[in-house]
Amino acid sequence: MEINPEQQPISTPKATTIPSNSSLSLPLMGCGTWAWGNRLLWGYNPTMDNDLQAVFNLAVSQGVTLFDTGDSYGTGKLNGRSELLLGRFFTAYQGLNKDKICLATKLAPYPWRLTRNSMINAGKASAQRVGRNLDLVQMHWSTANYAPWQEHALLQGLGDLYEQGLVKAIGLSNYGPKRLKKVHQQLASRGISIATLQVQYSLLSTYPVTELGVKDVCDELGIQLIAYSPLALGLLTGKFSEKGSFPKGLRGILCRQLLPKIKALLDCLQEIASLRNKTMSQVALNWCICKGTIPIPGAKNIQQMQDNLGAIGWQLNDEEITELDRIAEKLEKKMVQNIFQTK
Ligand SMILES: NC(=O)c1ccc[n+]([C@@H]2O[C@H](COP(=O)([O-])OP(=O)(O)OC[C@H]3O[C@@H](n4cnc5c(N)ncnc54)[C@H](OP(=O)(O)O)[C@@H]3O)[C@@H](O)[C@H]2O)c1
Repeated sequence: MEINPEQQPISTPKATTIPSNSSLSLPLMGCGTWAWGNRLLWGYNPTMDNDLQAVFNLAVSQGVTLFDTGDSYGTGKLNGRSELLLGRFFTAYQGLNKDKICLATKLAPYPWRLTRNSMINAGKASAQRVGRNLDLVQMHWSTANYAPWQEHALLQGLGDLYEQGLVKAIGLSNYGPKRLKKVHQQLASRGISIATLQVQYSLLSTYPVTELGVKDVCDELGIQLIAYSPLALGLLTGKFSEKGSFPKGLRGILCRQLLPKIKALLDCLQEIASLRNKTMSQVALNWCICKGTIPIPGAKNIQQMQDNLGAIGWQLNDEEITELDRIAEKLEKKMVQNIFQTK
């Protein structure tokens, strides 16, 4: 594939803010913090905390000011760990862009959360862990696929958090276009808008956008789409190979299943990356940005954050995007979709 150098925009290192229909200030890229407290999938332990704080500080100083957490990130003895760490790092940080920081949590519709009050209480508990009100509170997933009767009250509670001034904006997660439209109507009847929707979106998870068409509906309703797992849990960084060692547990299984099937995509990412003097992660994240989404890659150390920051300040050209799209579409295997993703 040939790249026309005239189409390569000039690089600017800092993340800039994108327009939003709420009072939120959202950057071009954010940072996910699922790994900041999750032992099972991500191998978190508290000795990582200094590294995580360094990630936070670097990100904010470079304009990556959106941090995505969840009240289910850290369970058992680590209950709410990710929110606690974010709050601690936020309080300690005194540098550039502090005023732009957007702390976003997701409240899980646990089976024992049944009333609108339970959502308000959950929002307050998250705020207590963070040490201040959250900027954005999102419904972590819809219960529509398995307990449709549960959802209405919880969404009303989410709206209450906004009306009571406990959050600046509200959002959803793992909703497809049909559900999104319904919830939009319900909340709009109370004069409340949905600021953001997050779905699993990457070159290995195009389903919510290409098959469900969720981006078009977001655009129509003025909702900002956030791309979670934009590096496909690390697969798109190129650091795992068929012959090399795999991470433990579920991610190892995923590597074994997917790596033999996604070689064409990884080769294409690698080719673009070397022609551009970028890394594969940077190309994969830039693709998300070019698609009008805000990627929120997780990062566990300063090297990863430094690398991910290089996704900002330039843009893939149309030719490169078309080639990546073409190859991604033809892959026989992709990431498994979240079981809670609705239509
Ligand atoms: N709404 C939802 O249901 C939902 C679901 C999933 C995620 N999310 C959100 O989305 C965020 C991001 O997704 P994710 O954490 O699942 O996956 P991801 O961003 O695709 O992958 C992140 C992982 O890849 C590795 N990594 C990151 N940058 C790297 C780099 N430059 N070079 C090499 N390795 C790198 C790190 O793990 P290792 O060092 O261990 O390899 C990191 O934890 C989460 O933290 C969470 O906030 C939301």
